[in-house]
Amino acid sequence: MRQDELYLWFLSDPTAPRWVGQLRLVNAGKGVSLEYGAEWLNSGFPLSEDLLLVDIEQLPRWTGMAVGAVDDARPDRWGERVIQYLDKPARLSIMEYLYYAGDDRFGALGVSTSAGAYTPCAKNPLPRLAHAQQLSQVVHKVSDKEPVNEVERQMLSAGGSFGGAKPKALIEIAGEQWVIKFFNNEPIDVPLVEHASMTLAALAGITVAQTQVVPLVGENALAVRRFDRNGERRIHCISAGTALRAEAVAGGEPEFGYPHLAQLLRRAGVAQNDANLLDMQELFRRMVFNILIDNTDDHEKNHALLVVSPTRQGKYRLAPAYDVLTTNSGQGFQEFIVGADQRDSTLSNAMSQSELFGYTSAQAAAQVVRVISVVDGWRKHFAACGVTDADISSLALRIDGDQLHDQRRSFHPADYAQPAKSPRRRSPFAK
Ligand SMILES: Nc1ncnc2c1ncn2[C@@H]1O[C@H](COP(=O)(O)OP(=O)(O)OP(=O)(O)O)[C@@H](O)[C@H]1O
Ligand SMILES: [Mg+2]
Repeated sequence: MRQDELYLWFLSDPTAPRWVGQLRLVNAGKGVSLEYGAEWLNSGFPLSEDLLLVDIEQLPRWTGMAVGAVDDARPDRWGERVIQYLDKPARLSIMEYLYYAGDDRFGALGVSTSAGAYTPCAKNPLPRLAHAQQLSQVVHKVSDKEPVNEVERQMLSAGGSFGGAKPKALIEIAGEQWVIKFFNNEPIDVPLVEHASMTLAALAGITVAQTQVVPLVGENALAVRRFDRNGERRIHCISAGTALRAEAVAGGEPEFGYPHLAQLLRRAGVAQNDANLLDMQELFRRMVFNILIDNTDDHEKNHALLVVSPTRQGKYRLAPAYDVLTTNSGQGFQEFIVGADQRDSTLSNAMSQSELFGYTSAQAAAQVVRVISVVDGWRKHFAACGVTDADISSLALRIDGDQLHDQRRSFHPADYAQPAKSPRRRSPFAK
């Protein structure tokens, strides 16, 4: 496969693939454009807010990317590595990565060499849980750049190119697809710590993707249930980066941050039963939780939106939280903007724009207190999950280190009590 043109398909019902349009390699091989087909223009929807239903070739605005939501259909660093290693395409452009990602990619988009039929890059069925040990060995070989045999190649080819930077694959558990994330020689048991962090987040009122620890010989892996699958159906999803980039005015740079994502949800989230307000408020809790457990790796691809009502103005729901874990970096700033002090990992920064999350400052402060009380119990929770004393001591240097512990101790909701209402301004017409 070495094509400068491919075809994009929509697979919310994979038994009835819908042709979306044509993809083309542009910008001297550094970008991919999309031109919707006539049928999609008639009966489709904008895949992201920057991909309007217009009859033109839509070009990417940033170099090294596919246009709009198409960019979320391509693999990330780990997947690119697997493709380089297993599929060995003659050329390595975004086109090859889009194609070799196969049929099980993130979201509901698919890529085919034909506009007449959805014919994705052929892959084997996903490995099952019973094969997790073998799968981990293949993944380690790819990480270490060791040769793999044909059986191993086929095992990883199915879901090995899923997103993210760290070693992972897709696996089937009881008929459902899960992402399986492997130990990557870190000084602590990261898969177990991720499970402990995610389940702790749930205690703080955060909707998290379901996780399950997969014990292997000498190490653990973490399985995370896919939230972009619903039985046989697929849910169109976009990353926060794609959603926020779509909002950037021509020539401007996008602003990647929690308040910005909250406002996007306010405008384009599902309004029924105040779902968008609940999502905005949950985003606030996620931000506070990430700060307090030192999850500083909260970048634009670590938040996603489910496009649940694609043809309506209120189309998005916040996807469950994933990739939430103590990064043990202690860097003191987040990847996503928090508030008036930009990325600073402080509760005062989190509180600085709480109204953008649909809270009064008193309500937001109550949520901070709620998250603090959950994080205060982190050691007990991590121990109950099986995290070793040594790993807990290592994590404590951050979570209970001066910087974060002091913030938990010195947060006083009374400081954020509602300001007395200013007297109503008198109408200039009143007598
Ligand atoms: N449960 C899930 N359901 C659907 N998609 C998921 C799920 N978990 C992760 N993803 C997708 O896979 C990507 C990689 O997953 P994840 O962020 O957990 O991996 P990672 O390698 O730790 O990431 P990073 O590059 O941030 O270190 C995510 O950005 C998201 O697009
Ligand atoms: Mg990630």
